[in-house]
Amino acid sequence: MSIHLKLILVALFASLAFDHSLCGKKKNCYTIKVDEGERVLVRASFNYDNYDGKLSPPTFDLQFDGNFWATVNTSTTFRVISHEAIYVVKRNFTSICVAQTHPGQLPFISALEIRSLDANMYGSVHPTFALLLVVRAALGANETNIRYPVDPYDRIWEAATGAFGLTTVSNEASSIKVTTPPDNPPPLVLQNAVTSSSTLIGINIITKLPEKPTPFFMATYFSEVTQLGSGQKRSFKLFIDSKAVSASIVPTFGAASEVYIANRIASASNQISLLADDDSTLPPLINAMEVYTLSGELTNGTNAKDVVGLGLLQNGFEVLKGWSGDPCLPSPYSWDWIDCNSDDMPRISVGYDLAGSVPDFSSMDALQTIDLSDNSLDGPIPDFLGTFPNLALLNLSNNRFTGPIPSSLLKNKKLKLL
Ligand SMILES: *[C@@H]1O[C@H](CO)[C@@H](O)[C@H](O)[C@H]1NC(C)=O
Ligand SMILES: *[C@@H]1O[C@H](CO)[C@@H](O)[C@H](O)[C@H]1NC(C)=O
Ligand SMILES: *[C@@H]1O[C@H](CO)[C@@H](O)[C@H](O)[C@H]1NC(C)=O
Ligand SMILES: *[C@@H]1O[C@H](CO)[C@@H](O)[C@H](O)[C@H]1NC(C)=O
Ligand SMILES: *[C@@H]1O[C@H](CO)[C@@H](O)[C@H](O)[C@H]1NC(C)=O
Repeated sequence: MSIHLKLILVALFASLAFDHSLCGKKKNCYTIKVDEGERVLVRASFNYDNYDGKLSPPTFDLQFDGNFWATVNTSTTFRVISHEAIYVVKRNFTSICVAQTHPGQLPFISALEIRSLDANMYGSVHPTFALLLVVRAALGANETNIRYPVDPYDRIWEAATGAFGLTTVSNEASSIKVTTPPDNPPPLVLQNAVTSSSTLIGINIITKLPEKPTPFFMATYFSEVTQLGSGQKRSFKLFIDSKAVSASIVPTFGAASEVYIANRIASASNQISLLADDDSTLPPLINAMEVYTLSGELTNGTNAKDVVGLGLLQNGFEVLKGWSGDPCLPSPYSWDWIDCNSDDMPRISVGYDLAGSVPDFSSMDALQTIDLSDNSLDGPIPDFLGTFPNLALLNLSNNRFTGPIPSSLLKNKKLKLL
C-alpha cells in the first residue's frame, strides 16, 4: 500500500473562541475546498482547559454542510473531546460549524482535521448518511493511538484489551497482506488480537452504542495469528444477541479479512459477539474493529445557485462578510439577513446598512422577495433585478439610487414595485 495521505487541512488552535454576542451570528464555520463527491474524514477536537479563565465549560452544537453533527458538552474540563465523521461531500467544499445553543456559552474549537479517503472506503454505507465514530480499536495492541503514518488515512486506532477474561495474542506472521478488506485497515492493527480461553466461550464486543436503538455500521478485522496444524481449525460467526449475522469467519495466516455489519439497528443493550462454530477446535479471535452510528439523512444544502449569489453579495458588502457555512441550514442557524423557506431557497429580507452599488446576484433565480430598503445603495438600479422569474416583491425604498427604472423591471408584470 502506498502512503498517500492527502492532507486537506489541519488547523490547531490554542482554543479559538467565537464571540457571537458582539455580532449576533448564530454559527461560525470553516469552509475547506475539497473535490466534489469526495469521501472525507473530519475530526474536530475541543480542549476547554479553562482557556478563558472563567471555569465555565460551554455546551454548543457541531454541524457540517448544513447538518447537525453532535452536541459538544465540554464540562469534562480536563479532557480533549473529539468528534469524528466520515461523509461524502456534495459540493466542491465542506464547511464545519460550531453553533451557540445556550445563552452566554461561547463555542470554541481547538483543532480541525480533514483527510480524504479512497472512494471505495466505507462504501457499504449509502452516501446519504454520515458515519459518526463511536470506537476504533486495535485489540491487544501494545502501542496506543496508532495513526499516520502507520495508517495512511490518519484514522486513530486505540489499543484495547477487550472484555475481562480475554487473552492478548500476537501475530506470528512476518508480514500481513491487507488486500481484500474494503476499508483498508493498516497492517499494524492486525499484528495483535484478543481471543477467548475456549471454544465454549464467546468474545463479547463492547460496542459503546447509545442506549437508544440507532442505525450503525461495524467493521471487524481478522488475521490468523499462528500457522495452524493439520487438525486445527478456527471458525466462528458474528452474532447480534442469539442471531448469527455473518457467514463462518476463518481468518487467514499472513492475510487480513473484514466482516462488517451495515444497515442494521442496535443499542447498548444488544449483545454483539463472536461465537465458535461447532467444528472449530480453536476459540474465536478478533484483531481490530470500528463502530459508527449513522447520521440522519444528509441535506443537499441550500440551493447551489443561491449560495453563489449570496457569496457575491458578501463580496460586495463588507458588513455581510462575517456569515459563513450553509446560509439556511440547519434550521434555525440561518444567516440573520436572509429568510429561508422550507425548501431551502433563501430570500433576502433583512436590511443591513449596505452602501455602494448592488453586485450582480442574478444567479439566485429562486428569489421571491428582495428587500433592500433603508440602505445607502447608490448608482443606477441594476437591470438584473427585473429578471428573477419568481420575484414577487422588490422593495428598494429609502436608498440613493439614481437614473431611470430599468425596462426589465417595468416589463415584469408579476412584480409589485415599491
Ligand atoms: C454538560 O454535562 C454536565 C456533566 O455531565 C451536566 O451537568 C450539564 O448539565 C451538561 N450541560 C448541558 C447544557 O447539557
Ligand atoms: C466550485 O463550484 C462552483 C459552482 O459549481 C464553481 O463556480 C467554482 O469554480 C468551483 N470551485 C472550484 C475550486 O472548483
Ligand atoms: C509491542 O510488542 C512487540 C512484539 O509483540 C514488541 O516487540 C514491542 O517492543 C512492544 N512494544 C511496546 C511499546 O511494548
Ligand atoms: C438530495 O438530492 C437528491 C438528488 O436530487 C434527491 O434524490 C434527495 O432526495 C435529496 N435529499 C434531500 C434530503 O432532499
Ligand atoms: C418596504 O420598505 C419600507 C422601508 O423599510 C417599509 O416601510 C415598507 O413596509 C416595505 N414594504 C413592504 C411591502 O414590505
